[in-house]
Amino acid sequence: MATPLDNRVVVLGVTGGIAAYKAVELLRRLRELGADVHVAMTRAATSFVGPLTFEALSGHRVFSDVLDLDAGGAAGVQIGHVALAQTASAVVVAPATADFLARAAAGRADDALGALLLATRAPLVIAPAMEHHMWSHPATRANVQTLVERGARLVEPDEGALASGATGRGRLAAIEAIVGAVLEALGGKRDLVGRRLVVTSGPTREPIDPVRYISNRSSGRMGAAIAELAAQRGARVTLISGPVSAPLPPLDAVIPVETAAEMHRATMDQARGADAVIMAAAVADYAPSAAAKRKLSKSEQPLDRIELVRTPDILAELGATRPARVIVGFAAETHEVLEHGRDKLLRKKADLIVANRVGTAESGFDSDDSEAVLLFADGRVKVLGLVSKEVVAARLLDAVAELLAGEPQRSRTQAPRARSKARG
Ligand code: C5P
Repeated sequence: MATPLDNRVVVLGVTGGIAAYKAVELLRRLRELGADVHVAMTRAATSFVGPLTFEALSGHRVFSDVLDLDAGGAAGVQIGHVALAQTASAVVVAPATADFLARAAAGRADDALGALLLATRAPLVIAPAMEHHMWSHPATRANVQTLVERGARLVEPDEGALASGATGRGRLAAIEAIVGAVLEALGGKRDLVGRRLVVTSGPTREPIDPVRYISNRSSGRMGAAIAELAAQRGARVTLISGPVSAPLPPLDAVIPVETAAEMHRATMDQARGADAVIMAAAVADYAPSAAAKRKLSKSEQPLDRIELVRTPDILAELGATRPARVIVGFAAETHEVLEHGRDKLLRKKADLIVANRVGTAESGFDSDDSEAVLLFADGRVKVLGLVSKEVVAARLLDAVAELLAGEPQRSRTQAPRARSKARG
């Protein structure tokens, strides 16, 4: 599948703040999405992270001096910032220090990054990070406003603990938010801004004893793809994940859980006031009635009979109690996919079920692709066919955005009952 930034040249500007190390992760994410990333560092930034790190990860020379010559240009020697300025599809500066904002607002060209910003017509994304008093200072505010008025996209810093030891607004925004802004600058969707989504993912593990458990083949890739894309499209996402071996997406809120009972607790807790809950987890349906404290031994206790009890059906409880506006479930089936999906839609009172075939080589738990159909509570059916998990995630989020667009945004604290009253 084509990745969203395939063949796009993205210039990553890194300026001199503690958060410069986070630009390494941003570079990695942009590369994962297919971008050809070139890094421009201010001199101060090189005191925080060595250029070699960015060179190794980007595959290109880092440049910082305005007189740097482009060693990578196929046409021989070119002035780096001019050549790059013309080929760049987007420029993202993260972290952007107060000093950088001042120099960019003034149009200074005394280093490679400043010169590049003057020479390029590519969209600019700035993600500031600094001490909170510096961020709120009228000089910084004015510089940011100047840049925004000139068309820059601002990814506001987050609130939280700062390097200075203080707490306040000034932390570099989440990497996925910055990636989202780059995607948006390049024409990507931002239809989930202001929405809060809860996504569950992966299998659960139900312990038999300290070493054995009951689980399933879920890889967690579907849930991770949904969570990641939702964040890129602007949503605040909480990912509740069972034990998975694949790395979890770089989100601010990830809640690792192990058992169905833990997933139940975390989901009901997070679902309150959310815009949507997407149950992509393969929750175990049964768990041993009690987990042995010590490893069961074949010779002493029979292991051929394990008493099982039903786990809480989280999706059914969400459908019955409606703590969030849109409730989405998955139906992983080996056969009669549509019939079972429809049945699940009704029984669990979901708004949308993603019915997909599992258990074939092409489609299923550990494959790249998924043969999926979207079943809506109003009877509509969207056949997606055999597509990648990223495409399923994209179509599913289109559907969620569309369902949410029908109603005004809810505040986090609004109780479900108040909503049904308001609707009469
Ligand atoms: O009933 P079944 O397990 O086939 O339903 C699948 C859907 O229900 C998935 O969305 C899954 O996350 C959810 N589920 C749940 N709690 C369970 C079992 C399944 O929320 N105990």
